[in-house]
Amino acid sequence: MPSAFIIRVTSPADAEAVTALLTASYPVLMATAYDEAVLGAALPAMTRSNPALLSSGTFYVAEQDDGELAGCGGWTRERPGTGEVVPGLGHVRHFATRPEWIGRGVGRALYRRCEEDARAAGVSRFECYASLNAEGFYQALGFATVARIDIPMGARTAFPAMLMRRDLT
Ligand SMILES: CC(C)(COP(=O)(O)OP(=O)(O)OC[C@H]1O[C@@H](n2cnc3c(N)ncnc32)[C@H](O)[C@@H]1OP(=O)(O)O)[C@@H](O)C(=O)NCCC(=O)NCCS
Repeated sequence: MPSAFIIRVTSPADAEAVTALLTASYPVLMATAYDEAVLGAALPAMTRSNPALLSSGTFYVAEQDDGELAGCGGWTRERPGTGEVVPGLGHVRHFATRPEWIGRGVGRALYRRCEEDARAAGVSRFECYASLNAEGFYQALGFATVARIDIPMGARTAFPAMLMRRDLT
């Protein structure tokens, strides 16, 4: 298996590969924190790559030297779900590492790039809706848990998550 990767900005051409990555990552790694019913309802939408993110200029992939993707993640000024923009606030979005790459620094490298670019763009704090299994990862990156929240998924389902924050100043 390749051991090196680079971080690069995505384009719409990455749609299929990012969907494949999310599909390889989320069902396996989220099963540690969610039951089958919640994942069954949430994953079809959550594992589809998001065209707006792919063309945002602030969404990144970790690409292996053979061209395969090891991870993805990014940030936006728009709050997921509502599109609300608050000056100085950025939102961490759609992080995933391929299971074979877990614990090898892919998530941290993607986050480092997010923080670097967000700071340069005048962002002074990040928020994140962290899946329950990823709370420890975001804590390791310096985020603090603010509250447990339910993210609406369609009319009847909610996806439990953690609202987390990190000051960048
Ligand atoms: C969360 C996720 C992206 C972490 O990716 P990763 O590539 O394994 O992360 P890294 O190897 O860069 O780890 C960075 C740090 O976080 C810590 N960490 C990672 N996952 C952790 C976990 N589940 N619990 C506690 N700490 C964790 C690591 O120990 C490491 O700490 P260190 O650098 O101080 O040693 C990955 O587990 C994943 O894809 N999970 C499923 C999808 C998901 O839930 N995404 C988040 C959506 S909000």
